Amino acid sequence: MITVFGSINLDLVVAVPRLPTAGETVSGRDHQTFPGGKGANQALAARRAGADVRFIGAVGQDSFAELALLNLREAGVDLSGVRTMAGSTGLALIGIDPAGENQIIVASGTNARVEASWLEGGFGPGQTLLVQGEVPLVEVIEGARLARDAAGTVIWNPAPVPEGDLSDCLDVAGTVVVNVSEAAEIGGRLGIAGDTETFALKLAEGGRNVIVTLGADGVLARTPTARYRFASPAVNAVDTTGAGDAFCGALAAALDRKTSFERALKEGAAAGALACTVTGAQSSAPHLEDIARLADTIA
Ligand code: RIB
Ligand code: NA
Repeated sequence: MITVFGSINLDLVVAVPRLPTAGETVSGRDHQTFPGGKGANQALAARRAGADVRFIGAVGQDSFAELALLNLREAGVDLSGVRTMAGSTGLALIGIDPAGENQIIVASGTNARVEASWLEGGFGPGQTLLVQGEVPLVEVIEGARLARDAAGTVIWNPAPVPEGDLSDCLDVAGTVVVNVSEAAEIGGRLGIAGDTETFALKLAEGGRNVIVTLGADGVLARTPTARYRFASPAVNAVDTTGAGDAFCGALAAALDRKTSFERALKEGAAAGALACTVTGAQSSAPHLEDIARLADTIA
């Protein structure tokens, strides 16, 4: 059983010839509307990867709320822990360039007011908590402690990297998943000099698993006792939005069903690659069958 405590947004996506610089207007044609938010995306990705999932978060009292929840509802994610609050549902404005690279502006809305107390009493031994960086760090830390104290596993994807002291969350997280730029930022803030390898090594020495997703280059991971490095399966990328979320969801689902750490990494990498082949975040979250087939090809 995986609990995702995190954000839920409505994504407004526009394909543009190139991403704008400051002060610049860039025009696209039609826009597309998708359910999104890193928490919700990861919940859906974990569900499609075969896990029982509940999502804990908040939506506003507006017309975006139901749209944002739609995919989770249809996929059978437990939504009994979702609260409707005064204010607006989270919103993401997403530009995508022809190479599939994106630029995202997020209005947090009710995501900024979720509370860890909503998780109280909700964890049993052996369960997994999956958290990200789009809800307040203090609540993430408190939620992670609740999960850990109930003998659960905590997977933290600090995306985007939150303001504030990261060390408390690092202390409770059994597994940390970051991309290269998040690794650089966290490394800088923790005073870890050197490259991604050093970052992963240093954090793993602290007694946790560290996973750095390298985009098309694959994945690097360190546990306190081992190092893993895989290339990504080659795919035709059209939209990288949701790739990190697909990785985290599939990884969590694999770890939750007690596969080996190595296999979980490969399934995460396969899911991330597959997510790049479809526009949108949730729309691109792959199913276990496809994940497993592609993961088998990773050496
Ligand atoms: O990781 C992709 C997500 O980031 C989008 O769905 C958007 O909502 C932003 O939160
Ligand atoms: Na995608």
